[in-house]
Amino acid sequence: MAENSHEKTLSALGIAQPDQVAPLFAELLSKANAALQSARSAELFEQFRVQWLGRKSGVLTLVTDNWLKAASKDLKPAVGQALNKFKAELEAAMEAQRAAIESGPESAVSAKDRVDLSLPGVVRPVGSRHLIRQVFQEIEDIFVSIGFSVVEGPEIETPYYNFEALNIPEFHPVRDDMDTFYVEAQLDGSAKTLPGSLLLRTHTSPVQIRTMEERQPPVRVIVPGKVYRRDNPDATHSFMFHQIEGLAVDHDITFCDFTGTIEYFVKNFFGPGVKTRFRPSYFPFTEPSVEFDVSCIFCGGSGTAASGQTCGKCKGAGWIELFGAGMVDPAVYGFVNYDAKKVSGFAFGMGMDRLAMLKYGIDDIQAFFQNDVRFLKQFS
Ligand code: FA5
Repeated sequence: MAENSHEKTLSALGIAQPDQVAPLFAELLSKANAALQSARSAELFEQFRVQWLGRKSGVLTLVTDNWLKAASKDLKPAVGQALNKFKAELEAAMEAQRAAIESGPESAVSAKDRVDLSLPGVVRPVGSRHLIRQVFQEIEDIFVSIGFSVVEGPEIETPYYNFEALNIPEFHPVRDDMDTFYVEAQLDGSAKTLPGSLLLRTHTSPVQIRTMEERQPPVRVIVPGKVYRRDNPDATHSFMFHQIEGLAVDHDITFCDFTGTIEYFVKNFFGPGVKTRFRPSYFPFTEPSVEFDVSCIFCGGSGTAASGQTCGKCKGAGWIELFGAGMVDPAVYGFVNYDAKKVSGFAFGMGMDRLAMLKYGIDDIQAFFQNDVRFLKQFS
């Protein structure tokens, strides 16, 4: 076949018989296929398309003009038929080549960059509230349900609020038990402030004073918060821990109101099965003062563990100490200008971390502060 046979007419090519037509088209198709095989990119494919199907001077246009339109009457049917077949085969071959180019390495790269919407999404772990925060909430809910409100106070305190106004003068021996971290800073303004000495509060009790300074009776508040002591860390002690203070002051509050309130709380928090008891104790800001115990929730108050051995949690006593409390000492009212002859009230201060440990069977207070996700996840 001549180099550009489609540029010549059939008679110029010496085709005179219908049976010479099919081989001519077959040759043209194999030429088209060879060119198509080399068109391996989208750009080359487009060049091929223009060269073969271009309207003005594409091969197909010239074949139509030179071979079909210029054909003799005898040849025309054979040329028309062969041309249709050629067109169909060329289109099929081009379609196959287009698909091969699209799924080839070049488009594979862009497929990699594409977002695959059928993939499962990235699961982002949802955090949860720390167990201490959850227990705070449980306790708050119980007290709020019986008319208490929640107040907060500063963690950096003056010695006045932390000690003196709670009836703990400077050389009182009880200060030894509550030694703390002092902060080097000057306070200006308040005459009640000792110059240069601020401390991390050792208990939430200073907020009793701050609240009574601001409000007149009746007062019913609880005070959750962090406190600090210079205690060596062990399974039940931390140098930073959490307390919830409670204070109720009114004109006719009795010790019975106090015991009823505390029992209501304990039975709601631990369950109705626990027993409670008071033991005489001493705090400079309450009179009388008590330590409040609950029957051991691990051995049911028997002092004997399920294994038959002495209960390790209550050490065989059957009771676990929960917190200190008492009726507000009349001397404290003097610091906040309440009339001690007209008002009375009670106060308590619970170690939050130990309450949480008892309720959830945790045997080391340090677990709260180690941020071990295996521990935290158990309470999400
Ligand atoms: C007080 O802190 C008093 N302010 C409580 C109080 C308030 C009494 C109102 C009367 C009226 P105490 O030092 O006992 O009391 O501490 C209270 C609780 O804090 C303890 O029962 C214990 O549960 C917890 N606690 C004390 N020291 C630590 C510590 N180092 N680590 C963890 N918990 C502690």
